[in-house]
Amino acid sequence: MSTEVVILAAGQGSRMKSCHPKVLHPLAGQPLLGHVLACAFDLAPLAVHLVLGHGGAAVRDYLKDRPVRQVEQREQLGTGHALAQALPALAPESTVVVLYGDVPLIAPKTLEPLIAQAEAGALALLSVTLDDPQGYGRVLRDDAGRVCAIVEEKDASPTQKRIQEVNTGILAVPAALLRDWLPALTADNAQGEYYLTDIIAMAAASQAPIEALQPSCPQEVQGVNNRVQLAALERWYQESQAEYWMTEGVTILDPHRVEFRGDMVLAEDVTLDVNVVLEGRIRLAEGVVVGAGSVLRDCDLGPGTRVAPYSVLEGVRSEGNCDIGPFARLRPGTSLAVGARIGNFVETKQTEVGPGSKVNHLTYLGDTCLGADVNVGAGTITCNYDGALKHRTEIGDRAFIGSNSSLVAPLKLGEDVTVGAGSTLTEDVSEAELAVARGRQRNISGWKRPTKGD
Ligand code: UD1
Ligand code: CA
Repeated sequence: MSTEVVILAAGQGSRMKSCHPKVLHPLAGQPLLGHVLACAFDLAPLAVHLVLGHGGAAVRDYLKDRPVRQVEQREQLGTGHALAQALPALAPESTVVVLYGDVPLIAPKTLEPLIAQAEAGALALLSVTLDDPQGYGRVLRDDAGRVCAIVEEKDASPTQKRIQEVNTGILAVPAALLRDWLPALTADNAQGEYYLTDIIAMAAASQAPIEALQPSCPQEVQGVNNRVQLAALERWYQESQAEYWMTEGVTILDPHRVEFRGDMVLAEDVTLDVNVVLEGRIRLAEGVVVGAGSVLRDCDLGPGTRVAPYSVLEGVRSEGNCDIGPFARLRPGTSLAVGARIGNFVETKQTEVGPGSKVNHLTYLGDTCLGADVNVGAGTITCNYDGALKHRTEIGDRAFIGSNSSLVAPLKLGEDVTVGAGSTLTEDVSEAELAVARGRQRNISGWKRPTKGD
């Protein structure tokens, strides 16, 4: 049997007070809608449909290159009306899962049993029991404890309002049943809307089985209506990530001061100091230490690599046992071989650093390839850009670059080359040669300093 997912996201989201659509606000570095789509695609569905309001250009742009069928709901006449817009596109034999663009943390594991119930012919909904159920639709049960209806807050009697079991809105149902029920909805209620929740009473009336299952935690079904709720959900997500990684063997000095924003694989004995931010695709091997205040984006660091505090790394690959920072800025295309060392105030971009090579202080290397055991002195700059094109610099094994050298690319320095401090090199240097390219020092004896009043 095939599953189809319909994500409702046509609401205005006006309580965010934002010019950006609510579903594009990020949680853990990814739009709310991105989280929902990831969950939807995890179910290996036949299709994913997204119900959008009029306009929604930014959301459409976000969906470009994603296999999502967009359905427009021109007027927001209620959740039942929203789902009805997708109905013609649903295969009659499918099981339909209804999700929401602003309920980001729903997990596939929670939906699987829901889908199984719907595949067996039931209307399966997800409910949760809250200390404060205010604002939510309440789940009504008959004397036998069977779910028989959902009543919205605004339509509920004082007695019904005391019910703490609420509707999360998430459900799974055979498409064939929706074809009967959705066209029969009316807007005869306190809000004048077509309530999707009215299908529960229809199911009860037609003796269709109704199952109410619960998520593993309430945060999974928490919707985001404003920035306060967004921040609360973000904190919960970050704490649960920190807890997860600690149970997997990662040392986190303060689980409240580390951020996980992306797809992580962290090995045992990784250590994360305070205020570390990990973004994008992160792979940290055994024993990697990330120092305080460092930001890593799309990095793959080999065993034992140490990132000292306040370093910013993007698109960096290291083999084992490298030292980076403090205050290093490594940009995309930086790759460090075993034992390489990048020190403070060093910037690299599209640069390979060979095994055991050291670039310890105040240096810029762009479009550069360093061999093994090279020593780059403080203040060395590769002049890789001539205003129009980028050029490469190649430096052979065991070369020694004196401090404050400018290497004007394209440039090749052979193995065992030595460069005198303060040189500006514009020509290649062959193996084992010494290159000095600077004004020769003159010492002038008897020199008199100028004095005032002369
Ligand atoms: C809905 C449920 C309520 C449940 C609550 C959980 C109904 C009638 N009520 O109420 O039982 O407790 O969610 O949060 O379903 N949307 C559209 N088009 C519309 C209306 C809504 O796409 O015409 C989308 C919104 O973008 C939003 C979602 O549906 O993502 C829920 O809509 P909302 O108006 O927030 O429903 P609630 O009143 O919260
Ligand atoms: Ca809502």
